[in-house]
Amino acid sequence: MMKRVFIDTMGCQMNKSDTERMLGMLSYLGYDETDEPKEADLLIINTCSIRQLSEDKAFSEIGTWGQWKKCGKDIKIVFSGCVAQQKQREIFKRAPYVDLVIGTHNIYQLPELIKRIEGGETRICECPDVPYGESDIEIKRVKSVNAWIPITEGCNNFCTYCIVPYTRGRERSRLPETIIKEAKDAIKQGFKEITLLGQNVDSYGKDFKDREYRLADLLTELNALDGEFWIRFVTSYPTDITDNLIETAVKLDKVCEYFHIPMQSGSSEVLKKMNRRYDRETYAEIANKVRRMVPDVTITSDFIAGFPGETEEQFQETLSAMEELNLDYSNTAAYSPREKTVAAKWTDLFIPEDVKTERLKRLNEKNMECCLRSNQKFVGRELDVLIENFENHKGKNVVTGRTRNNKIVHIPCEKDLTGCFVKVKITSAKTWYVNGEIID
Ligand code: SAH
Ligand code: SF4
Ligand code: F3S
Repeated sequence: MMKRVFIDTMGCQMNKSDTERMLGMLSYLGYDETDEPKEADLLIINTCSIRQLSEDKAFSEIGTWGQWKKCGKDIKIVFSGCVAQQKQREIFKRAPYVDLVIGTHNIYQLPELIKRIEGGETRICECPDVPYGESDIEIKRVKSVNAWIPITEGCNNFCTYCIVPYTRGRERSRLPETIIKEAKDAIKQGFKEITLLGQNVDSYGKDFKDREYRLADLLTELNALDGEFWIRFVTSYPTDITDNLIETAVKLDKVCEYFHIPMQSGSSEVLKKMNRRYDRETYAEIANKVRRMVPDVTITSDFIAGFPGETEEQFQETLSAMEELNLDYSNTAAYSPREKTVAAKWTDLFIPEDVKTERLKRLNEKNMECCLRSNQKFVGRELDVLIENFENHKGKNVVTGRTRNNKIVHIPCEKDLTGCFVKVKITSAKTWYVNGEIID
């Protein structure tokens, strides 16, 4: 009989991509995915440790699984992802019922470790510091129109607030051959969009000793593959974006007009304390250059409110940067101290919780203004949309999709057009999406 696995994926796209790889490996061990944890024989929590909140959520979720086990249910519990890599054996103290803790560098070791827990071993902790080789298992991609493909793993930047370099290790690029093969497979399986992933995609290839091969080269090769599909890449580190990359992206028809370039703060002083390698003016020059060179481009960002020592004036510089640079959308968060990071030691500079919450609120309000204004720019335009979903929205059938520049579009439609490219006229703008009508 088929065994069942439930995976809760709590983190970023990289974390989602790991889930897809794990599901692929587990299918060879006879596991089928279920979205009902109660039906599962194997329960996996794939965790994120970017903020304290995400870490706490992981422990509260598996508390329930621990209860089921205590009541005699025959289940295995696996703890993976960034919290696993960071806390390792400590996890057993808070969650003694966990059977396996597996790190971020060795997900390809999953099959042999699962066999060991199936054989009755428990409380295994395998979190090596060095990357374990890849295996060429087939990936079980989540059914969608978009396929995530990691191109770099890890990060060397050590921004003072960020835990990623500790949970994902040093930056390393995956081989172009491997990436292109994964892309070909995904296109053959019917995926209509490829999103290349990395903490800093523009440093792709810097670590190759035997060749000169960078992101622009990879985009060029992918663009030449047969089939109708779009290509995206995230995340860009501002000062690593080269003119050659921008020019290449503009030239290639499958590469979308979308850049995610996190600024983090609008204050040059705060940026310095964050160990970001640019100031407000430099970021502005880069963002403006991208806007000049890429017609209709959308630029999105991430911002942190209440970084240690941030003054009210410095916070206001973040608000004014969002406005001045016409950022189209931003992910926002209140600063959360993370173990091992430099800024977490500056406890005397910590901003009180209520001040952080209040700043985050203002940041979100500014973000909403910027988003609405950005969406309004496109009203009346005719744009290509890739349809991702068919649903009943307030009693009416609609399809939703995204434009090349990543705008979400809602379109009244009686037919499920998921996976189709359609020409759409934008009719009105809301804060988080635009409305449109199909014109062909
Ligand atoms: N590599 C990307 C970001 C990856 S983490 C980059 O350099 O921009 C995603 C986002 O989480 C970051 O951009 C940052 O805004 C946020 N973040 C990271 N650490 C955080 C912390 N300690 N507290 C609050 N937000 C944080
Ligand atoms: Fe974290 Fe900075 Fe690396 Fe992004 S660039 S993952 S924010 S350390
Ligand atoms: Fe991603 Fe969270 Fe890890 S953002 S890299 S899953 S800490």
